Amino acid sequence: MTDIDAVLARADANLPSSLDTLFELVRIKSISTDPAYRADCREAAAYLVRHLADIGFKASVRETDGNPVVVAHHEGMAPNCPHVLFYGHYDVQPVDPLELWTHDPFEPAIRDAGNGRKIITGRGTSDDKGQLLTFLEAVRAYKEVRGTLPIRLTVLFEGEEESGSPSLRPFLLANAEELRADFAMVCDTSMWDAETPAICASLRGLVGEEVIITAADRDLHSGGYGGAAANPIHILSDILAGLHDRTGAVTLPGFYDGVEEVPGAIKADWQRLEETSPGFLTDIGLSRLSGEQGRSRLELIWARPTAEINGISGGYAGDGFKTVIASKATAKVSFRLVGSQDPLKIRESFRAYSRSKVPEDCKVEFASHGASPGIQLPYDSPVLDKARAALSHEWPKPAIVVGGGGSIPVVGDFRSILGMDSLLTGFSLADDRVHSPNEKYDLASFHKGIRSWVRIIDAVGAK
Ligand code: BES
Ligand code: ZN
Repeated sequence: MTDIDAVLARADANLPSSLDTLFELVRIKSISTDPAYRADCREAAAYLVRHLADIGFKASVRETDGNPVVVAHHEGMAPNCPHVLFYGHYDVQPVDPLELWTHDPFEPAIRDAGNGRKIITGRGTSDDKGQLLTFLEAVRAYKEVRGTLPIRLTVLFEGEEESGSPSLRPFLLANAEELRADFAMVCDTSMWDAETPAICASLRGLVGEEVIITAADRDLHSGGYGGAAANPIHILSDILAGLHDRTGAVTLPGFYDGVEEVPGAIKADWQRLEETSPGFLTDIGLSRLSGEQGRSRLELIWARPTAEINGISGGYAGDGFKTVIASKATAKVSFRLVGSQDPLKIRESFRAYSRSKVPEDCKVEFASHGASPGIQLPYDSPVLDKARAALSHEWPKPAIVVGGGGSIPVVGDFRSILGMDSLLTGFSLADDRVHSPNEKYDLASFHKGIRSWVRIIDAVGAK
C-alpha cells in the first residue's frame, strides 16, 4: 500500500464520523438572507471553528458588519510548501416553499434515491456544507495518517455567499496580508455528470436588483379608481416585459458591451459535450431552449449574460379574489454577467430604463443585492493539470474543464484584491435541487469528494 492509499483508506474509515459532522452542520439553520437566522449563522461559524481546531488548525470567528467569517491557519510540512487558501460558505438559501419538501430540510438523513444511489437530504447538503466538508475531511484524514500536511493552508469560510457576499470584500481588503496565498481552492461547483468530475474555468457575475414602484398613497377600490389611477403592477409589468426583445436578447442600452463571442473551436467542443447529456431539459420537465435564439445550451449558460425575474409581489395574491389597485409593487431581478461586462454600468442602465417607464406622479426605488463581474480562469496551469489528473484517478471518467453558469462573487476579489487565481472543483450534481426544495447530495459525491481532495492535496503538495 502506498502512502496515499493509507490516507484514502483512513478517509473511507472516517466516513461515518464525516457524516456525523455534516449532519450536525446541516441541522444549523444558517439562512443568510433572512435576519431571523443571524444567530444560527453565528452558530454555524462557531461550529466550524471547533471542527477546524479539532483537526489542528488555529481557527477563529471573525466579525464583519454582517455574518461572521471563519479564518483558520495550518502550517505545511516544510517552510517552502505551496500555500493554499481554501474557501467555502456555511450559509444556505431559504427553504421556502416548505410544503414542497418531503422531509424536514434541517433534519438530514441518508435515503435511497430509488435508482441505486444513496443520497443525503437537507438544505445545504450540497450547497455548500457537504462540499466544504469534503475538503476538511480530506485534510483530517491526511493529518491523521501523516501527522502533517504537504501544503500550508489558510481556510476562509463566509456566511453571506448566498446573499452576494456584501461583507467579504471589506474583510479581504482589511486582512489581505493574512489571507494571501499562492492560489485559492473552492469547492462550490458541480460535476459534469455522476461519473465525470469537472474543473470550472469560468463563472458568471451577478447584479441583484430590487425595484419598488409606488403609485397612490393607499390601496384603492378598483371600481372607484380603476382606469383613472395608476396601477403600480401595470407599471412594473411594463418594465419587466420590456427587458427582452422577441429574439430573447436583453434590451437594456449597453448591456452587451464587453460580451465576446465564444471561439469556434470551443463551441464545437461544447457541442460534443452537450450530446453526452441529452436529459438537460427533459429531466426538469421541459423540452425547448428558452432565452436568446440561435445559441446552444452550454453557450447560453456558460457564455451569455441574462436578465431574470426572480420574484414579483404586489396586490392581492391570497385565496379568493379582491378587486384592489395596490399602492406598491416590487420585483427582484438579477443579471448574470460574462466577459468584461461592468456590473455597475448594468445596474445604472437598468435603473435609468426603469425610471423612464414610471409616470412622474409615481415613485420608483431600488435596493441593490450585490454586483460582481464574470470571471475567466486560466485553462492551463500547473495546479489545474495536477488537479485534473488527481480527479481522473478517483472517478470512472477523466476530469473535464467546464464553464459555470452560477456566481461566486469572492473569486473575482481573490484575483483583484489578493492577486490569486482559483481552482474551482466540486462534486454536486445537476439533480441536487440546489436552492430548491428537497436539496440532496449523493453519498458518493461526499465520499468520493473527500477522496478526490486527498488526491488533489497530495498532488499539489510538496514532495
Ligand atoms: N454554488 C453556487 C455557485 C455556482 C453554481 C457556481 C453553479 C457554478 C455553477 C453558489 O452557492 C451560488 O448559488 N451563488 C449565488 C451567488 C449570488 C447570490 C451572488 C448564485 O449563483 O446565484
Ligand atoms: Zn454555493
